[in-house]
Amino acid sequence: MEKLMSIRRDLESVPDSYILPPDSRPGETEVPLCKTIPVIDCKGEFGRDPTKLIQQIIEASTEFGLFQLINHGVEEKLLQDALKVAKEFFGLPDEDKAILFSDDPKKSCRLYTSIDYMKEEVHYWRDSLRHPCHPLEEHRQFWPEKPAQYRDVMGSYSAEVRKLSLYLLDMICDGLGLEPGYFRNSTQLTEVQLMAANHYPPCPDPSLTLGLPKHGDFNLITILLQEMDGLQVLKDGQWLAVEPLPNAFVVNIGHTLQIISNGKLKSAEHRVVTNRKLARTTVTSFIAPSNSCQIEPAKELVKKFIPPLYRAFTYKDFLATYVTDTYQRKPPLERYKFQI
Ligand code: OGA
Ligand code: NI
Repeated sequence: MEKLMSIRRDLESVPDSYILPPDSRPGETEVPLCKTIPVIDCKGEFGRDPTKLIQQIIEASTEFGLFQLINHGVEEKLLQDALKVAKEFFGLPDEDKAILFSDDPKKSCRLYTSIDYMKEEVHYWRDSLRHPCHPLEEHRQFWPEKPAQYRDVMGSYSAEVRKLSLYLLDMICDGLGLEPGYFRNSTQLTEVQLMAANHYPPCPDPSLTLGLPKHGDFNLITILLQEMDGLQVLKDGQWLAVEPLPNAFVVNIGHTLQIISNGKLKSAEHRVVTNRKLARTTVTSFIAPSNSCQIEPAKELVKKFIPPLYRAFTYKDFLATYVTDTYQRKPPLERYKFQI
């Protein structure tokens, strides 16, 4: 529990165990907010035409692996409430948070810090509250009881975001030329939805630390809600800062979708930098396959002259190697690639 960032108040300098080796520090140079990251307007000129919308989503997912979505239909009030209850949770007295703190990754709903505190060489400047949220009735009872609104708000929010994720996956399915319902109708591929509330407290020296190291999400698709800068995406070897747009979602493609698309869509490598003065809170929803699900490039995308880039494996095995590869700073998809 004492490991949590949100109970370590008034830190005047960065503790040694949070200082990154020089080659992975964000450093002093400021990364300006990027204006070229695609912003897709679901109700704009292109958004009203499904073919154009699909095209924009596929282009953004091929080029950046990440895009922003505006006018997506999820109510503004629900977005604000989701951020509000997440912030309130991290503002609770320490004894309330202690109930949910756990080092055990198998615990359904847990509050933890960093990724694996005991194994990692350097710690990261973040606490995270994470729990499954689909189907709601199975998981809700394990969610925080405080703040009082948490279960209601996160229940509605996660259901809306799941709907939106499946809608995006339908469009991706169409854009890739897969059989209709490839993601939506699969009993396994989109079975899991995890929700995380992330909290990045102010940091005395953001040049030395990161809230989250460079990583790609391992699931299918992630929808993130933010209201403050801090998220950066790697594009052509350069870090770009993702601008917080009012009521927008940041959507990013995960490793699993990269594999299913046989490398056409790219999972975005991203990281989170800290802020000297302000705390940052985000809410993330991850749509993921069940553990026993077999992951492989979609048959429709593998043809005589387009061989599969990746071999088949179970999602569970991938999760295990993802963790060990990440610790050793190895790209997690390499071991699943066919050597040409
Ligand atoms: C994540 C993530 C980004 C953020 O949880 O995988 O990348 O800004 N979060 O919180
Ligand atoms: Ni991520």
